[in-house]
Amino acid sequence: MNKKITIAIDGFSSTGKSTIAKLLSKKYNYVYVDTGAMYRAVTLYAMQKEFVGKDFLENEKLISNLEKVSLSFKFNKKLGFAEMFLNGSNVEKEIRTLEVSQLVSKVAAISQVRKKLVAEQQEMGKEGGLVMDGRDIGTVVFPNAELKLFMTASADKRATRRYKELIERGDDVNFDEILFNVQERDKIDSTREDSPLVKANDAIEFDNSDMGIEEQFERICNLVNQKLSKN
Ligand code: DC
Repeated sequence: MNKKITIAIDGFSSTGKSTIAKLLSKKYNYVYVDTGAMYRAVTLYAMQKEFVGKDFLENEKLISNLEKVSLSFKFNKKLGFAEMFLNGSNVEKEIRTLEVSQLVSKVAAISQVRKKLVAEQQEMGKEGGLVMDGRDIGTVVFPNAELKLFMTASADKRATRRYKELIERGDDVNFDEILFNVQERDKIDSTREDSPLVKANDAIEFDNSDMGIEEQFERICNLVNQKLSKN
């Protein structure tokens, strides 16, 4: 049997990384880890404790409480993917709000937060057979991943996708606010000092502004199959 590989998917927000990652994990029977959910859960914790808000960030307080943040994923058979739990509570829905999206990049820029989450991610993936998506997977978490993808799309296309998602969930959001958030997160995620979002040298870039999911998935499966045949 082929050895199981590690697939690292990085890229800008709302580029469909998680959609592709979920499809790959199902097809190849790999574990899927959404690392953005982990940064979102830490942000939710910081919001609950009032360590972060629109105009403030108490990094020292958050850092000294990090050991009290326990994150885990539990597979939901009905949904077909693992949901995020924060200190024992299912926070899958709460971490996807615009409010969390507006604060997460600030929290994700804190080195101690990254150190904790990267160590947990490396532990989860040490056996291989993994699809992990995020911003620094191919560069920092698994620099030796056999397959690295880097997803991009225009900010307008990404904001439109995100807007539809949130409206479908019943959230009351406005398009300009979402577009601003997408652009703002791109800026913070790409310019932070610790592990900025950059394409790894050996990552394959996918601009999916004008590419449907089926076409992307087919192309990516071909890449996975090539890697598997070499392993
Ligand atoms: O993938 P997402 O949009 O749910 O991620 C939310 C935020 O978390 C993103 O704006 C930046 C941060 N993040 C990160 O810094 N590193 C990762 N590996 C994943 C996410």
